[in-house]
Amino acid sequence: MINTLTSKKIFLETYGCQMNEYDSELVRSILKKENYEFVTDEFKADIVMLNTCAIREHAHRKVYGRVHNIRHARGEDSPVMIGILGCMATNLRQDLLEDRSLKIDFIAGPDSYKRLPQLIREASDEGQKSYDITLSEFETYSDIYPSAEDRVNPSTSSRVNAWIAVMRGCNNFCTFCVVPYTRGRERSRSPENVVEEVRRLAAEGYKQVTLLGQNVNSYRYDDYDFAYLMDEVSKVEGIERIRFSSPHPKDFPDRFLDLMAVNPKICKQVHLPLQAGNNRILDMMNRTYTKEEFLALVDHVRAKVPNVSLSTDIIVGFPTETEDEFKDTLDVVSKVKFDAVFNFKYSERQGTIATKKYPDDIPEAVKTERIMRLIEIQKEITYKNNQAHIGKVETVLLEPYPDSKNKEIMPGRTDGGLLVLLPQGPYKGGDLVNVRITAATPHALKGQPLPNMSPSFA
Ligand code: SAH
Ligand code: SF4
Ligand code: F3S
Repeated sequence: MINTLTSKKIFLETYGCQMNEYDSELVRSILKKENYEFVTDEFKADIVMLNTCAIREHAHRKVYGRVHNIRHARGEDSPVMIGILGCMATNLRQDLLEDRSLKIDFIAGPDSYKRLPQLIREASDEGQKSYDITLSEFETYSDIYPSAEDRVNPSTSSRVNAWIAVMRGCNNFCTFCVVPYTRGRERSRSPENVVEEVRRLAAEGYKQVTLLGQNVNSYRYDDYDFAYLMDEVSKVEGIERIRFSSPHPKDFPDRFLDLMAVNPKICKQVHLPLQAGNNRILDMMNRTYTKEEFLALVDHVRAKVPNVSLSTDIIVGFPTETEDEFKDTLDVVSKVKFDAVFNFKYSERQGTIATKKYPDDIPEAVKTERIMRLIEIQKEITYKNNQAHIGKVETVLLEPYPDSKNKEIMPGRTDGGLLVLLPQGPYKGGDLVNVRITAATPHALKGQPLPNMSPSFA
């Protein structure tokens, strides 16, 4: 039991995607108003909260392990309270509350963070477990604007990129995916509300915002679509770059691509999650496009937005995927030549359509072998893509300096999101620097700043 008058120290740990990072910022904002203090030393905390992810098996196993580890490290008699937030909360409420060995005190789903003060109070009455995993049909957090102090790294020098949720939830029900169950239905914030948060971020010194949503380009508020929102955000003075994550291939209308092509603040970087290159598997996944349509979309995006940087997500070993069907995925990867590919082995998730309909029948060894081949092919492609930048001039947004491990080197990102390493110079995190690319490795570019370092957006 904690004494709410004197000890209100919280240690918050975040797993999963950028939306969870942003949600942790909301949580800090909500609880700091209630006089809770956030600490960086978990052993000084009265409450440990884990903001969890349920996307793949190992993500959630990690959380179980972490809860046991906290209890063990703090000792069986320790009064430390443990709270589970985020996507596992929704998906595994029953398991969490019934598994007494886990000793969870409270659970809050992604739409319940405003109730956290109450849930904590209820749980601190000895023995009582409290939970709220209700999912909302409306955007729940429109009136909360996390400040720089609520962000992951609040120091002034770290104010380069800020995440901002513009829509939540997913209506797509890809058969492998747990997100529609953990996050609920799609809903968007009003453009005014988003722009207000972006204005505040610019005033705090942030140079880049990344608009977030489980299907960010499906954003819709009344008659306002994603293109409208991006355009409005780009009018905010002080914000130099806008990115977004993560989109679905079905929502890239020309209206948006045309805007991306001409608006200098909108980074020319598109993540197009492929998942699989075979039409039978794509159909089983409920992805709503064929291999041919995906390839046509890639050509179209490249025609509309020259020099666009493309990345993707791929799942290997979806149930019944044959060797030949996997080769269709390799074929798309070889043809498209993405700048980055994020690969995942299929992982059966409780409650999903795939789990109900298709046994997870691809052996682990086959999944591993397939993912290795994919990584090998993509490594070559990334290296070649990187080499093609040598000699070019890129405008690089420098990342927060203290985060750099090597003090001789300043890391930054091109408009397309590629990592560029610069020698130390008279610049700092958040600066935009014009750079000539001098060398490339499979993982990054190296560059020298041009004498006239100020970038021109002409
Ligand atoms: N909304 C995004 C996906 C978010 S989840 C989209 O539609 O693309 C991020 C990635 O995790 C997915 O693109 C997919 O590649 C992977 N993923 C999701 N569920 C998975 C599962 N059950 N097994 C393996 N990978 C999965
Ligand atoms: Fe999951 Fe598909 Fe929704 Fe992406 S679009 S979050 S993969 S259900
Ligand atoms: Fe994980 Fe939930 Fe994000 S399942 S990937 S934290 S939406």
